[in-house]
Amino acid sequence: MLRRIPPKRWRNHGLARGGSISQPIPTAGLELLRREGIGFEINEEDRVLPKPELISRLHGKEALLCLLTDRIDADVIAAATRLRGIANCAAGYDNIDLGAATRKGIAVSNAPGVLTETTADLAWALILAVARRIPAADRFTRAGLFTGWGIMLMLGADVHGKTLGIVGAGRIGTAVAVRARGFRMKILYCSPERNDRLERELGAARVDLDRLLRESDFVSLHVPLTPETRHLIGERELALMKPGAFLINTSRGAAIDEAALVRALREKRIAGAGLDVYEGEPRLQEGMRDLDNAVLLPHIGSASFETRSRMAEMAAMNLVAMVRGQRPPNCVNLP
Ligand code: GLV
Repeated sequence: MLRRIPPKRWRNHGLARGGSISQPIPTAGLELLRREGIGFEINEEDRVLPKPELISRLHGKEALLCLLTDRIDADVIAAATRLRGIANCAAGYDNIDLGAATRKGIAVSNAPGVLTETTADLAWALILAVARRIPAADRFTRAGLFTGWGIMLMLGADVHGKTLGIVGAGRIGTAVAVRARGFRMKILYCSPERNDRLERELGAARVDLDRLLRESDFVSLHVPLTPETRHLIGERELALMKPGAFLINTSRGAAIDEAALVRALREKRIAGAGLDVYEGEPRLQEGMRDLDNAVLLPHIGSASFETRSRMAEMAAMNLVAMVRGQRPPNCVNLP
């Protein structure tokens, strides 16, 4: 079980310099810092720090360990005069102004790899849940509406034997595709790089995004959020999808133009969507919660006890290197 520390606001462990931890993290990460003899100060309350508090807590600190809900913008980076590094406890790092950090010579690290399989599991949970209407069927049963087996009751879509389109065939996209083998699915993928493993092991075909959208029954997004991928799926792309197709997103909400998606789902221009992430997270796009053809999760892609502990350890390892003036093992910006 993950142990969480009780809420007591800020607590100091060791040196006044060292690291700052913006929010509670699994104890595995804190234990690693203690073993390594790294002093740190931690916000022990489950809340995202307002910018002025984040800035004041960074005063004199050498490194920051933060979560994807912390917005580390140019103001925060400019104000943190001693800061050498920012260790994000997430695979994505679009919450950090990478350009501002790089210009100041501040290392930024992420926590890649350790959450691949767990996030791929969740993408599959969404595929099955939306295709077979699992949340609706559960609500129906609990409401006492199950009065007997029905030949037309809760019909959904088959998953096995269909075409799965993977948008962004990096680690997680690949792990999602590999799981499709048991469902005897045809795999299409689109990615800036060729993925040998997908082609060799699964006979996957690399196609452009338009063809993937036209031919897939399930389209699963696995792209980092960058200026190029913001609203990658908009009105035009949704119009290319088959009316019976489902869109799955476990990457970042802003990869989809959500207003366009809500319209497409409302007008049943596509069959459904399984979403774990949202454009204005935690706020939902207007109309989203009323859709009966969407399964909506609260950004839990990597949320298993084991994986969240591994992520905290990895972020802590990066913080140790930053405080020691070394290059963090998962640095994403500096050479
Ligand atoms: C989760 O969304 C992550 O980027 O780790």
